[in-house]
Amino acid sequence: MTHIDYKRRQFLQYAALGTITATLPGFALAESRKINVTPDTAFKADVEIALTAQTADVPILPGAYTHVFKYYGKLLKGPQTALRELPGYLGPILNFEQGQKVRIYFYNQLPEPCVTHWHGMHVPQKMDGHPMYAIYRGEQYVYEFEVKNPAGTNWYHAHTHELTATQVYQGLAGLITITDAAEKKLDLPSGEYDIPLVIQDRSFTNGNQLRYMLNRHQRIRGFLGDTMLVNGQENSTIPVKTRAYRLRILNGSNSRIYKLGWEDGTPMTAIGTDGGLLEKPETLPYIMLAPAERVELWVDFSGRKVGSDLTLQSLTYQGSSSPMGGGGMRHGMGGMGMMGGELAQDKAISIARFYITGQISDSPKLPVELIPMRRLTGQDISNPGKTVPIAIGMRHMTWQLNGRAFEMQDYTELEKIPVNTVQRIRIFHDDRAMGGRMRGGRGGGMGMMMSLPHPIHLHGQQFQILSRTQNNPGGGYDTVKDGFIHSGWKDTVLVMPGEEIEIIKPFKDYTGLFLYHCHNLEHEDMGMMRNFYVN
Ligand code: C2O
Ligand code: CU
Ligand code: CU
Repeated sequence: MTHIDYKRRQFLQYAALGTITATLPGFALAESRKINVTPDTAFKADVEIALTAQTADVPILPGAYTHVFKYYGKLLKGPQTALRELPGYLGPILNFEQGQKVRIYFYNQLPEPCVTHWHGMHVPQKMDGHPMYAIYRGEQYVYEFEVKNPAGTNWYHAHTHELTATQVYQGLAGLITITDAAEKKLDLPSGEYDIPLVIQDRSFTNGNQLRYMLNRHQRIRGFLGDTMLVNGQENSTIPVKTRAYRLRILNGSNSRIYKLGWEDGTPMTAIGTDGGLLEKPETLPYIMLAPAERVELWVDFSGRKVGSDLTLQSLTYQGSSSPMGGGGMRHGMGGMGMMGGELAQDKAISIARFYITGQISDSPKLPVELIPMRRLTGQDISNPGKTVPIAIGMRHMTWQLNGRAFEMQDYTELEKIPVNTVQRIRIFHDDRAMGGRMRGGRGGGMGMMMSLPHPIHLHGQQFQILSRTQNNPGGGYDTVKDGFIHSGWKDTVLVMPGEEIEIIKPFKDYTGLFLYHCHNLEHEDMGMMRNFYVN
């Protein structure tokens, strides 16, 4: 990244927060902006939604309203349950049923380009919210897709070229919940007993405005706020009764990784991951949740006293070493306007307090089995001799994948995937690439020092985890290693420093460009993103 590029990015960051008027990023959209302007009449939608991205002023903290970007939804056709508003700055929860055909009229009313991605959903290229399909203010993009995913929790968010971090930060995100027949048979807690929790860290000025200023070092690590928001609200207190609940948790933060645990040491019971429900519930002492990951918990408040409470926390951990050292310390504020606090990545935080308000005598029982799932193995790999690499590296102080920075439509030979195949993919830290392209010499030492955790996300179909290998045990890995769920479908996997992860992923149905990237949004915007060309 050249100095000029860096300056331009900075400029965009400020502009995105409304400090000055933005000039539009210099990428040619003329062609793509004529795509999907009007609905396809052959597509018979069961659900139609108008979704507008616009600026708004909403109450988040006591006192002045906060200027945000927000998705507003309006149900045009379909069941009333398809749309559920949340207070705060998040978009409405979209609730779909497997098999439904969905049409979303997306309007951009923001002073900058925008595009929306349906994270976790298996949809065609043109419906996937690739940044090449960004539209400008006053324009419309019509998304049409059939819901192929099973029951579970996905989400949608802005995916605009070099503006994903600032747009999501300012509010452009929302949940997608999906139901299906198999889930209904399980009789899981529903209605008021099914609670969504979108966890985000933010930082505010004294005037209650969102603050997002990153100096170069902070940018390499990613944004960390000092104020926890749950569903867009501060100091989240959730009234519950003495029975079982289903919690759908999304880490919607730009870069913060949580080590979720109950305050009193009660183990966590997971019933779902990114891609939907697990085969059977899993109990862990704590759960690591990186940006974009989802976990569904079963929590039973039976037997607790009315008037008592239980806090969901992020516990302290080590192993998120920072490039400048000091992974476990408060970082010094850079010269560039971070006036307030910033909470270190691995510090203890309280996220939400569950307050027992009422006694209920009957509660559903945790099912022993949830959803049958076929484990993919080496046998399923279409070309057993080939492993697709995702090498995490750094060049010129910029994170990259497979030695390259993102370019809108660019892919290499390695990134070509034949459609309707199943691939083995190996995600690893390429320490050689760390200090530049040089062999040996200066490159080596930089490697460990620059090592950070990266949540790697692949668009398209969900994958399974084949193996997780730690090549550099120590460095605090012990404090996180029992918090990973290896069973279940995933679309994002946290790769800790020293880790190497093998996944197996189907590439069925749809051809075209599908992104893979780091979901640390600052990393993504600096170019830690590439295309797979599925053909
Ligand atoms: Cu949640 Cu490509 O993103
Ligand atoms: Cu995605
Ligand atoms: Cu990253």
